[in-house]
Amino acid sequence: MKADVLLGLQWGDEGKGKIVDVLTPGYEVIARFQGGPNAGHSLEFNHRKFILHTIPSGVFRKDKLNIIGNGVVIDPAIFIDEIQALEREGVDLTDRLFISTKAHLILPTHRMLDAASEAAKGRSRIGSTLKGIGPAYMDKTGRNGLRVGDIIRSDFKKKYKTLTQKHADLLKMYRYKVDPGDYEKKWFEGLDMIRRFRLVESEYLINQWLENEKSILAEGAQGTLLDIDFGTYPYVTSSNTITAGALAGLGLAPSRVGKIKGIFKAYCTRVGSGPFPTELHDEDGEFLREKGHEFGATTGRPRRCGWLDLPALRYAIMLNGVTELIMTKPDVLTGLDTFRVCTHYRINGKETGNLPFSLEDPIEPVYKTFKGWSRDISGIRKYDDLPEELKNYKAFIEKETGIPVTLISVGSDREAVIGNGDR
Ligand code: IMP
Repeated sequence: MKADVLLGLQWGDEGKGKIVDVLTPGYEVIARFQGGPNAGHSLEFNHRKFILHTIPSGVFRKDKLNIIGNGVVIDPAIFIDEIQALEREGVDLTDRLFISTKAHLILPTHRMLDAASEAAKGRSRIGSTLKGIGPAYMDKTGRNGLRVGDIIRSDFKKKYKTLTQKHADLLKMYRYKVDPGDYEKKWFEGLDMIRRFRLVESEYLINQWLENEKSILAEGAQGTLLDIDFGTYPYVTSSNTITAGALAGLGLAPSRVGKIKGIFKAYCTRVGSGPFPTELHDEDGEFLREKGHEFGATTGRPRRCGWLDLPALRYAIMLNGVTELIMTKPDVLTGLDTFRVCTHYRINGKETGNLPFSLEDPIEPVYKTFKGWSRDISGIRKYDDLPEELKNYKAFIEKETGIPVTLISVGSDREAVIGNGDR
C-alpha cells in the first residue's frame, strides 16, 4: 500500500483541515508531517467550528488512527489545551493518537526567541505566528533540540536546563526579559499529557501499516509558497511544506507515496509579511476578505486577499508532483460580476510563466478576466448543478495545469463538497 499526501498549494489557509476531515472516511490513518501550532486547521460540522493546531484533522471521525510525525514540532502547553478541548467534546484519543519520539519540542524560551527575533527585525519582520516555530527548527538543525523521546528519560530535566540557559544567553543579547512564568508550569503539565499517549518510533509503525495494507493520508500544514526552500524566502515558515517534507517528516520512502492531492483556493490569500503579486488593495480584496471570513485561524489577523496566481500554482504542482487538485471556496466569488486570474508575469517587459528568484522584484501580473455568477452555490452537491461560469473556470484551471480537479468545496461545513477527491 502507498500513502497519499494532501497539501496546500498556496500560502496556507487553503482549507486543509476541512478537506482532511472530508477524506478521512476513506483512510484508516491520518498523519501530520511538519509544522506545529502555527497551523490552524478549521473543521465545521453540526453547526460547530473546531480549530486544530498540532493534532491531525482525522480525530473527529471515530476509530481513525492519528499520528504526529517526526517532522512536527510540538508545544506541550498548546497540545494540552487541544486535548482537553477535544475531551470536552467527548473525543477520547488515548488509543488513537500516536506521537513520534523523534518529534521536536517547542520550549517556552523558543516562543520568547521568536518574539525577540521578530521585534529586532522591525519593518522587515516575517509576520511569524510567534509560536516558536523558527527557533525550535533552528535547534533541531543546530543539533541542540529536545525530542519527545527525551521526556521519558532520566536526564530530561538536565537537558532542558542546559538548553534554556543557552536560550537565556541569547535572549540577553536581544535585551529580552526572560519570564516564562505560568507558561512554563503549563508546559510541564503538557509534558505529562504527552506521556499519556503512545510514544512510538512512528517510521516503523507507518511502514508496517503500509505493509499490512492500511491506508494512510499524510496531512500537510501551511502551504507550498511558505516552504523553507521554495517559498518566498525569507517570508516563509521553517519546514518543508512540500511532498518531500512528507517523506522526511514521516520516514516514507519515495516509492511509498501514492496520490498527491493539492488544495488551492479559487482565489489567493496570505497572512503575514512577504510578496504577493496578485494582492488586491481595492474593494474586490475587501469583498473576498469579508465574504471568505479571511482572518487567521491561529492569530485572528486579517488575511491579505488577491486573485488566483497560475504561475505560482503551476510551480507548486511541479514541486509536489500533484496528481489531483481540490478547489476550495469558489462560493466566495459568488456575486462578483467579473473576477480575474493571473496567467503569466511580466518582468522587465518580458512575459514568463516561471517564478523568479525573488517575488519582491517588480512583477506585473498578466490577467485573464472571467465572468462571474450571482446564484448561491453553497447548497449545491452535484457538479451538473453548478453555474456554467464556474464550470468554465474549473475547466480553464485544469487545461492550464494539466491536472484534474476531483473535489470542489462550496462551504465550510463537511457536507458542502462536490466530487469525491478520487477516494
Ligand atoms: P511561523 O511559521 O509562525 O514562523 O510564520 C512564518 C510565516 O508563515 C508567517 O508569514 C505566517 O503568517 C505564515 N504561516 C505560518 N503558519 C501558517 C498557517 O498555518 N497558515 C498560513 N500562514 C502561516
